[in-house]
Amino acid sequence: MTDPLCKIDDIMFLRFELKNLDGQKEYLSHFGMFPAHETDSAIYYRGTGSQPYCYVAHKGEDNRYIGAAFTVGSEEQLNALAAGVGAEVVDNDEPAGGRVVKCLDPDGFGIEVYFGAHQNDAEAAKAPKLNAGFEKNRVNELQRFGRGPQEWTVKDGEWHYQLTSRVMRLGHVALNVADVDVSIAWYQKHLGVLISDNLLDPEGVRVGAFLRADCGDKPVDHHTLNIVAKAGPEANFAGTFGHGGFEVTESVDDLLAGHYHMKTLGKYRHEWGLGRHLLGSQMYDYWRDPTGFTLEHWTDGDLLDASVPPKDSYPKEFIMAQYGDEIPVTFGLSMPNEQLDSFREAAPKITDLLKTLE
Ligand SMILES: [Fe+2]
Repeated sequence: MTDPLCKIDDIMFLRFELKNLDGQKEYLSHFGMFPAHETDSAIYYRGTGSQPYCYVAHKGEDNRYIGAAFTVGSEEQLNALAAGVGAEVVDNDEPAGGRVVKCLDPDGFGIEVYFGAHQNDAEAAKAPKLNAGFEKNRVNELQRFGRGPQEWTVKDGEWHYQLTSRVMRLGHVALNVADVDVSIAWYQKHLGVLISDNLLDPEGVRVGAFLRADCGDKPVDHHTLNIVAKAGPEANFAGTFGHGGFEVTESVDDLLAGHYHMKTLGKYRHEWGLGRHLLGSQMYDYWRDPTGFTLEHWTDGDLLDASVPPKDSYPKEFIMAQYGDEIPVTFGLSMPNEQLDSFREAAPKITDLLKTLE
């Protein structure tokens, strides 16, 4: 393979157009993000990590995913990418500053690559000490998250759990594409990503991939990008957003706190979880936002350096989790929340189809 135009070192933020920014601000606060900037027509939300923001939405006439932003480690890489796609390197006029190249991928998803953008001081946080069966790390110290019992309040006769997850950073984006081989080749050439897993159907045809940044011997997330082919009956979802995966700050309890906050709030649609994936190994919990886009809380994912070769994975590995509820047929499909129930009733369960291969 020829050298890529540039090598991203991480993902930075997702960008959407939404009709209702107020509703999204409320959702993002419950999801565990924090306001970073706001203008008359856009909102910027951040986590506790160093990304200046990890979620951006602009007020508009439509509800749509615009694209994802990534970072590189030098301006030379921006120049090479710009030359390769016929774009310009320009000063970024949004709050993160720095220099940026913008282009479109083969499905028309926006791609923004930044160098020199402002970084937040990551909030100092300690991993909680856990007492495992054979390894006790905590003595004479009580395990408490948030305000303990004060996190539970009664509203309209129902218990509500107040503590939210605390998002640290955006870790990956999942995209539904028309031609998986074209997309993977494009991302390899333009962003220098490595294949962690090829997702193969039972006949061995590639139907997707998990891709990670190539940072040499520095370990990175198992996936920064997840590409999934949408063909046949699902072709309508080609070129649509799958989900965005946000790492929480403090591991498992942070994930569970967010789950019970969202669940007892009773306002948003749950998509999938809690569970632990096979590919990437992260614990996950997926929630739909008010317009039906899926955002994931995750924690404890695998880290790989560039020495790990691509692996071929078959449906049982990407459909089944290590543990957790069965995958809903709507998973990874962006649709208005009002359509979820009828779609789930009409479509065959993915896990039933998988039974025929056993
Ligand atoms: Fe994910």
